[in-house]
Amino acid sequence: MSIQKDKLVIFDTTLRDGEQSPGASMSKEEKVRIARLLERMRVDVIEAGFAIASPGDFEAVKAVSEAVRESRICSLARAVNADILRAGEALKKANASRIHTFIATSPIHMQYKLQMAPEDVLQQAVKAVKTARQFTDDVEFSLEDGSRSEPEFMYRIIEAVIAAGARTINIPDTVGYGEPGEYGALFRRVLEHVPNADKAIFSTHCHNDLGLAVANSLSAVMNGVRQVECTINGLGERAGNASLEEIVMAVKTRQDLYPVETGIDTRHIVPTSRLVSSITGFPVQPNKAIVGANAFAHESGIHQDGVLKHRETYEIMRAEDVGWGQNRLVLGKHSGRAAVRARYGELGIAFSDPEAFQQVFQRFKALADKKHEIFDEDLHSLITDNETPVERFQLKDLDVRSKIGSAPQAFISLLIQGEPHQTEACGGGPVDAIFKAIESIVGSGADLKLYSVNAVTQGTDSQGSVTVRLEKDGRLVNGVGADTDILVASAQAYMDALNLLAMGESKKQGV
Ligand code: KIV
Ligand code: ZN
Repeated sequence: MSIQKDKLVIFDTTLRDGEQSPGASMSKEEKVRIARLLERMRVDVIEAGFAIASPGDFEAVKAVSEAVRESRICSLARAVNADILRAGEALKKANASRIHTFIATSPIHMQYKLQMAPEDVLQQAVKAVKTARQFTDDVEFSLEDGSRSEPEFMYRIIEAVIAAGARTINIPDTVGYGEPGEYGALFRRVLEHVPNADKAIFSTHCHNDLGLAVANSLSAVMNGVRQVECTINGLGERAGNASLEEIVMAVKTRQDLYPVETGIDTRHIVPTSRLVSSITGFPVQPNKAIVGANAFAHESGIHQDGVLKHRETYEIMRAEDVGWGQNRLVLGKHSGRAAVRARYGELGIAFSDPEAFQQVFQRFKALADKKHEIFDEDLHSLITDNETPVERFQLKDLDVRSKIGSAPQAFISLLIQGEPHQTEACGGGPVDAIFKAIESIVGSGADLKLYSVNAVTQGTDSQGSVTVRLEKDGRLVNGVGADTDILVASAQAYMDALNLLAMGESKKQGV
């Protein structure tokens, strides 16, 4: 006899809290591409941004609201009028919208950050929820730093905001301080003590400072929570947020334990993880659960033998159920425009501008000449290249010489706003030589904060995807480049980062 399960709402905040990771900022177009995959995965709520944080965030929430039809689109807003009005405006075109308003409720935040008395915090929260309800009937209220708030005060504020019209109550573990037993018990007590608790869905939002974000979220689910806020790959501020893929797969794999089920189509997990990683330039560690390259790889002979005899001896999930191995060979050198366009369509990417498609198609042909098999990840990397917003700096030519016993040398030519420049430089290694050559021309004065290379697909003919993180005047940008020659990819990534710095987008307000 099957027992009726409750629905667990999956609220993805990759585009908002995930984007608050230093260096993970995404363009509007990139957010729309990720949102389309989240929709395809059947995520219930997509938090697309914090509309008032910057004009870029506002435009991104608006664009996602227009592009996505199936998932509910949400914008964050502090519990102040201006934020809520901006969120309401950005969400106007959404098929289904939500305003997520919040205010801190812990003694330490109220005293030092807000410098407000608890009574005033309560009044402001109620007012914010009422204002938000004028834009949508789906309003979420978060008690920031909830896990360190006084229970009695929480009961009062929650009762008041539910009476004012909040439908979802989120009690975040903002600073990642919670412990599973304690955090779960907090929800149990709240559900017992708040008289109108049955009129709202309770939600978790956990940060991973102690590596407990997923455990805390699941403990909350065991104690009555029916919405989990999470991000792809666990992306997020500091140590990140609870990872969507781990929560979804824990619930699916342990249906014997959890009283809930999600509506997620898990076959889209790996492709979405790959896209988020390639857009943000944050690689996924190989041993990361579910989406790491080794997550389903059995190295030991005993394990391999067992899996060959009977898979369940060592495998608790099937790799194909989370999307591994689905997009093996997709296209090659003989594929034409229609096939390439169709595959992009299947990945949720449409080209309204024929010129943009033509450029991507040319890159596809150039890549197919160098690389036998083209995978979905390759297709994504071709698009990423296309979106560098301002091509102020362009790489024209690169010649790198490296010989055992002598310093590597790079000869480089660039265009800066169309003007040709060239130079050469030596370095500790070939990449160092390239970056020194570029800097001797550009003189950006930026600090290199991160350099990473990852293979886009398998095999020695794989493209290398390079991320270069630069910092200047407190602003962090991630440049990305992809090529079968990793030195070319490195130079492209550096130029991409310089172009992003040149854009000079005003720094965002964080939460
Ligand atoms: O971590 C947090 O408390 C947040 C809130 C704004 C929900 O991100
Ligand atoms: Zn958060």
